[in-house]
Amino acid sequence: MANPLVEAAYLIAAVCFVLSLMWMSHPSTSRRGVWVGEAGMLLAIVGTLMLKSVVDYKLIGAALLLGSAIGVPLAYLMPMTAIPQRTALSHSLGALAVALIGVVEMTKLAAAGAPLSFASVALAFEMLLGFLTCTASVLAFAKLQELVTTRPMVFPGQKLVNLAVFVAALGVATALALHPQSGPLLIGFVALAAVFGVLLVAPIGGADMPTVIALLNAYAGLAASAMGFALSNKLLIITGALDGASGFILAVIMCKAMNRSFANVMFGGFGQVAAGAEGTGEARPVRSASQEDAALMLENSTSVVIVPGYGMAVAQAQHKVSELYQSLSGKGVDVRFAIHPVAGRMPGHMNVLLAEANVPYEKLIEMDEINGDLATTDVALIIGANDVVNPAARDDPKSAIAGMPIIEVDKAKAVMVIKRSMKPGFAGIENELYYLDKTHMLFGDAKDFVAGSFIPLFPAKAGIQVFLLKLDAGAAATEKSLDPRFRGEERIVGQPPPR
Ligand code: TAP
Repeated sequence: MANPLVEAAYLIAAVCFVLSLMWMSHPSTSRRGVWVGEAGMLLAIVGTLMLKSVVDYKLIGAALLLGSAIGVPLAYLMPMTAIPQRTALSHSLGALAVALIGVVEMTKLAAAGAPLSFASVALAFEMLLGFLTCTASVLAFAKLQELVTTRPMVFPGQKLVNLAVFVAALGVATALALHPQSGPLLIGFVALAAVFGVLLVAPIGGADMPTVIALLNAYAGLAASAMGFALSNKLLIITGALDGASGFILAVIMCKAMNRSFANVMFGGFGQVAAGAEGTGEARPVRSASQEDAALMLENSTSVVIVPGYGMAVAQAQHKVSELYQSLSGKGVDVRFAIHPVAGRMPGHMNVLLAEANVPYEKLIEMDEINGDLATTDVALIIGANDVVNPAARDDPKSAIAGMPIIEVDKAKAVMVIKRSMKPGFAGIENELYYLDKTHMLFGDAKDFVAGSFIPLFPAKAGIQVFLLKLDAGAAATEKSLDPRFRGEERIVGQPPPR
């Protein structure tokens, strides 16, 4: 007979998880989403501890302490840029837990001499997903942490080998569901599933890992759901399904924003840069601007759109960028942020960083919305972004990123790019934006450049010149249109730092 308290706790927990997902989908409600999700998880744990099948609280307490001793410092010490690998690590442990419970349950079935049943099939399925997700996530972690090469690991006939291992694992899983008591079948099955996880992720480049992690998240959720069927635990079925579905939806959103298919992510070997894909290798001249000129251009603008990217995250420049936003806004410049759905290396990367630095949500504008305004924008300031502003995605059907929607900064009146060198971004391809007449390259680390070049210059410039410019918006616009920097006639030709 079900314990009504447990049932109630499970029901409320399930509602909390649904609300959590709903609220986490928008920055303004995301904190509430996290809190309600945590409350739901606490209820789920308390409810489960009240089950009469729980016999030893001492062991559970010890596991809780050990897990917290590892998890709490991990959460505090892991930098924001390392969230994808932290997620991979936690998926691997979650999937291992699910898979090991599967082994225990399968052994119990074998000891009871149970015949083939829905439970044994569900267990075989969840063990397959659990073990492959575990090893695949460990390899994803190692690639993201650059403990192993981030390049796709490929060998001839790889797809055939992968298929053979997968089919063999499915065959052994079926045999195991029929004969759960067979030790060799169990060992062989675990080995095949684990090897398949490694083979699945090996050919995928490090930079595609965030999408793969979203997929692995879906697998781990499905495994948990299958476990819920095997254990007749309704909450596990619901949470596993929510986890699986949300991971899958996230992977779809990421693929769509990169204009790539699942097959291209899983088997495309993205990151193996083809010869010549990085351009000719010859140093072509680019324009650069002095720190003072760049600051003056920003200060004298009516509208500035800042496009943050992966480099802002690497440099941890978000707080300095927020200061820049405040300085410019204080001078009457309309500053907004253009957010590309896959800027950075994880979904919502830029939203999280800028929210952390207290940039108002309403200033973060989605790509589709801001693109229409760029032609009337005085300066597009790109901070550590590359692929998401590369016009080749729109103009060159042969480009590796052809068809990927971009933030069309090349339509703005002037463009400034802060990056350290002429090196390409994630896709490994040249960016013609840097060679446009209207583009000024500002070479340096994003945080150092914004902190050292822009912010100290503004207070000194807040004098009469800017005051006069702001006095009359019409006059200011005329002045700007006469300013050669806005017409791209100023030929400051700088030699770029080496690739
Ligand atoms: P990227 O194209 O990767 O370009 C980042 C640029 O930042 C680089 O060109 C780099 O140039 C610069 N940079 C690095 N460190 C810097 C620093 N300390 N200071 C200043 N600049 C620095 O980034 P993006 O434009 O954000 O595009 C993201 C890419 O990742 C897309 O191709 C997307 O498809 C892919 N991707 C995204 C996701 C998600 S979910 N966001 C998932 C998988 C893949 P230098 O080295 O010259 O400085």
